[in-house]
Amino acid sequence: MRAWTFSQRGMPRKVLTLSANLPTPGPPGPSQLLIRITHAALNPACYMVMSIIPWPFRPKNSIPELDFAGTIAGLGSAIGSSSRFKVGAKVFGCLSMKDMLAGKGTLTEYICVEATEIVIAAVPDGLELEQAAGFCGCGISALRMVQRAGIKDGDRVLVNGASGGAGTMAVQIARAMGARVVVGICSGRNVELVRSLGVDEVIDYQVNHPVDKYIAQQYSDHPFDIVLDTIGSQDLFVSSPKYLKESGVFVNIGSYEGSLWTIWCVMQNKMRPRILGGVPRRYDFFGTTPDSASAEILAGFARDGKLRAVVDRVFKMEDVFEAYDLLLSKRARGKIIIKIQDLDN
Ligand SMILES: NC(=O)c1ccc[n+]([C@@H]2O[C@H](COP(=O)([O-])OP(=O)(O)OC[C@H]3O[C@@H](n4cnc5c(N)ncnc54)[C@H](OP(=O)(O)O)[C@@H]3O)[C@@H](O)[C@H]2O)c1
Repeated sequence: MRAWTFSQRGMPRKVLTLSANLPTPGPPGPSQLLIRITHAALNPACYMVMSIIPWPFRPKNSIPELDFAGTIAGLGSAIGSSSRFKVGAKVFGCLSMKDMLAGKGTLTEYICVEATEIVIAAVPDGLELEQAAGFCGCGISALRMVQRAGIKDGDRVLVNGASGGAGTMAVQIARAMGARVVVGICSGRNVELVRSLGVDEVIDYQVNHPVDKYIAQQYSDHPFDIVLDTIGSQDLFVSSPKYLKESGVFVNIGSYEGSLWTIWCVMQNKMRPRILGGVPRRYDFFGTTPDSASAEILAGFARDGKLRAVVDRVFKMEDVFEAYDLLLSKRARGKIIIKIQDLDN
């Protein structure tokens, strides 16, 4: 089978190779599923792992990426015919970061996984596989942001990075879970896209610069209940007492300002007491551990017409470098999808 692999640490163009003759995994063990992948989606966390973790801590010929969509190609003997898995069923899901550190990824034609360990759900009718591939990683992170914020009917929500993979999901999920007003931050070229996802107001951060001061000015009279930040803007958090209710919460998953700076800021934001200059607003930062129950919730939203994956572009398997260039540009609109193979052989 074909798969993209890397054996050294570094950026995608430097370390990735398209291997044409890797052994196809399987047949599946008694409790395993063999999945034929048709599409994979790229995630920023994966190239960070690719470029940071040195060789002794992961196997040679590691395969990158976590998200996938495809079909069940084989079932282990202990997985009864009454199970929710059927050969040929269309599924989407994701591997865990632990899998990727162990060398397993989804830029490949087949994966063989323990049925109880993989995050997986059936693709709802009407949803294309290329869309479903972009659901899990960002969708579950966005769902977790909204759940941890404790969103209630009628809340006013601000989403930073509303045009990205996580942001496009966060806008729609906040709306699906009862937000009354959703305000999204993006650049001018993405205003129409973000509006189409259900935001009430869009703020162009390039025109209204610096955006934290602009928001403090515009929203101090009608402050937000929740901020969902997928970019990781420290200035936005520091200014939050001016535009976020005292009872409100600022939830951040982003690290666009750099990993070390993010770690420093998260420590400050979580631990520095108000009396020593800490920002007087609740702050949350977390890493997402995906699960199948959350994937089912996303599938349900999609079935009800409340959630779609925004796909920036679908790249061919051979064009993975161009796809990573787009991801690294930090300008992608929604998800970047890699078509691994056709649905039918
Ligand atoms: N903790 C977790 O569990 C978790 C899970 C998923 C993602 N993440 C992190 O969340 C971050 C976002 O991930 P993603 O997949 O959504 O990234 P992404 O899709 O690559 O984000 C690209 C988007 O970011 C927007 N953007 C760039 N700079 C911006 C700025 N200064 N203000 C507002 N928008 C800006 C761009 O819009 P414009 O072109 O309009 O600027 C573009 O649409 C990453 O740091 C990722 O590692 C964390």
